[in-house]
Amino acid sequence: MNKIAKGADKLEKMKLPHSAGLSFLSKTCDNHEIVAFGKKVIKPVQMMLIDGLEVCPRCEKERQDELLREEQQHFYDNAQRLIKHNTLLRDSLISDKTILNARFENYEVNQDEQRANKQKVMSLSEQYQLGNIFNIFIQGTTGAGKSHLAYSLLKSIHDSSETTSCLYIDIDEMIRKIKDSFNNKESKYTESYFVNLLTEVDFLVLDDLGAEVGSIDTTRQATDFIQRVLRAVLNARQDKCTITTSNLSSVQLKSIYDKKIISRLFKNPRYVVFQKTEDQRVKNVPF
Ligand SMILES: Nc1ncnc2c1ncn2[C@@H]1O[C@H](COP(=O)(O)OP(=O)(O)O)[C@@H](O)[C@H]1O
Ligand SMILES: [Mg+2]
Ligand SMILES: [Zn+2]
Repeated sequence: MNKIAKGADKLEKMKLPHSAGLSFLSKTCDNHEIVAFGKKVIKPVQMMLIDGLEVCPRCEKERQDELLREEQQHFYDNAQRLIKHNTLLRDSLISDKTILNARFENYEVNQDEQRANKQKVMSLSEQYQLGNIFNIFIQGTTGAGKSHLAYSLLKSIHDSSETTSCLYIDIDEMIRKIKDSFNNKESKYTESYFVNLLTEVDFLVLDDLGAEVGSIDTTRQATDFIQRVLRAVLNARQDKCTITTSNLSSVQLKSIYDKKIISRLFKNPRYVVFQKTEDQRVKNVPF
């Protein structure tokens, strides 16, 4: 009796429950190599018969290891996806906290323009969810509900799919954080932090473009670094969806930002314009 047959005999005698239907074969599997004296040599592995199936225990172990590796990879991918998906809640800059509660459902429509714009943004959300890529420009006076609609849109995209990443950035707040990082070396909110963050996401809201340069009738050129950040972000986002809101007209924007930024911003966007809607924040004040 050879060594392997003896082993099988022993297993049989021990009557281990897992030994049922298991025996060794004289066949070997020649798919395995070892390195001996710096050379690869084939190491034959004795095949087994398990429940009527011929199995190489080494191949079987490798297959199990691969399954485990795949499972771990899957787990890791899922974690990465969740980290990406959570960008909206983790990394957004929203200075007006009321906007966090903005939804299509609580966007009231008291006039035709609001109704039409809400309808339009809801249908643009559906187009995004179908995979269409385009930019949106929401323009109108302060308090008209631009940020409310922009956040509602972003939240609807975020909730519709776990594989998308969304980010809402109050531009003024971002610029203040970058400026602060110039003097505060501990700050993580550097120019490159924001350029990377804003470039990565699938859906980006740039809220209140132009507010960062001060009053709306300014014709002053936005300082160099603001232009630099916007140019880098818009340049890198040409195959992604960017939603911009602004109080400023295109004429005013053109006087502030350089040509490259303007051409990226107005490269075939869908426009949502408020011309009649007044400030929704003060409409309930009785005087
Ligand atoms: N149609 C609306 N229904 C309900 N709340 C609104 C509506 N429009 C604006 N608001 C609320 O009024 C405030 C100002 O609106 P916001 O979207 O910030 O205006 P804008 O960005 O145009 O300056 C926010 O708290 C917003 O949620
Ligand atoms: Mg706003
Ligand atoms: Zn094998």
